[in-house]
Amino acid sequence: ANGLLLDTLQRPLRDLRISVTDRCNFRCVYCMPREVFDQNYPYLPHSALLTFEEITRLANLLVAHGVTKIRLTGGEPLLRKNLEKLVAMLRRIETPSGVPLDLTLTTNGALLAKKAQLLKDAGLDRVTVSLDALDDTIFKRMNDADFSVTEVLHGLDVAQQVGLGPIKINMVVKAGVNEGQILPMARHFKGSPFILRFIEYMDVGSSNGWKMGEVIASQTVINQISNAAPDMQLIPLQSNYSGETAQRWTYADGSGEIGVISSVTQAFCHDCTRLRLSTEGKLYTCLFASHGHDVRNLLRDNSDDAHISNALAHVWHMRGDRYSELRSQQTSPEIKVSKVEMSYIGG
Ligand code: GTP
Ligand code: 5AD
Ligand code: SF4
Ligand code: SF4
Repeated sequence: ANGLLLDTLQRPLRDLRISVTDRCNFRCVYCMPREVFDQNYPYLPHSALLTFEEITRLANLLVAHGVTKIRLTGGEPLLRKNLEKLVAMLRRIETPSGVPLDLTLTTNGALLAKKAQLLKDAGLDRVTVSLDALDDTIFKRMNDADFSVTEVLHGLDVAQQVGLGPIKINMVVKAGVNEGQILPMARHFKGSPFILRFIEYMDVGSSNGWKMGEVIASQTVINQISNAAPDMQLIPLQSNYSGETAQRWTYADGSGEIGVISSVTQAFCHDCTRLRLSTEGKLYTCLFASHGHDVRNLLRDNSDDAHISNALAHVWHMRGDRYSELRSQQTSPEIKVSKVEMSYIGG
């Protein structure tokens, strides 16, 4: 099963992003706005979720097909009970090359201080933490959470101390809401071990009411920082690997790295190697897909590994998604399609 698996655009399968819950303790306006995700929202029942055994079985088969990096997401992955057990199970997967899997997790950081050591001990390599502002009022306007910035910063420090680095910080920038935090965030993390990344606000899902006018282009972010002060000047870096979402920059004075993720103004579909597994066991070949490929039935039907493995390969073989590139080519207003929510599919 080790033959290189390519999709219709000749892209290999490399990254698997696994959503372990569709719930979250934040209500970010760009992801789970409170008006939509209220008490009546139909979250998945427990029986619908893939078990850790089911997730691990799929992950094993996908690693045999070329996956070298696994990221746990959600919703908020730390809300999934005993998540460290899943981490330990994934850690034991053997890769065809013998190089250990890159095992990572994206979290909002609220529960990170509590969980960091357990996750590290279970074999997690690193974490990425979302943080959209340093100012509590603006944080609240972006994330509508019952947590304070201090708690997230504490989570970051604990994670760093237990060795879950290098830690990346994701900041979604929304015009008119937190754009004034670009410089304070850049200054705060300059010279720290944390890599701050600015993300263009995207039109994922169908509930955030996205408008192009609310996007701040990465180039604007880079110019703003670079022109702020002589010690803030940025120079571009080479990417770490092909298909990297972020473009990397470093401060000219050597005090650390930042990144920008420009999926709106500079789409990176041409080398997108990511496959997403939803909480209830559907595979999505694009963040913007409107439907997934169910594999939970196969798992619960007593299908054997060979059969499931073929089904997985088939999904990748047929893949032709390049939503962000098509969006950029579009000049007229968007065709409305019902896209799946990011909290369900996994960021
Ligand atoms: P590393 O470089 O390994 O740290 O991770 P990463 O950048 O692949 O993952 P991360 O979860 O940190 O992704 C950062 C953000 O980029 C996500 O939260 C999304 O907003 C965006 N992103 C990630 N993957 C995709 C993708 O396939 N398509 C688009 N359009 N955006 C993506
Ligand atoms: N646009 C850009 N980034 C988003 N994220 C969630 N929704 C959006 C969106 N609409 C990011 C979060 C987090 C990761 C899981 O995805 O900030 O870092
Ligand atoms: Fe929760 Fe992350 Fe979505 Fe915010 S972006 S609501 S923290 S899943
Ligand atoms: Fe990959 Fe789809 Fe994102 Fe393009 S829009 S980078 S194909 S997930």
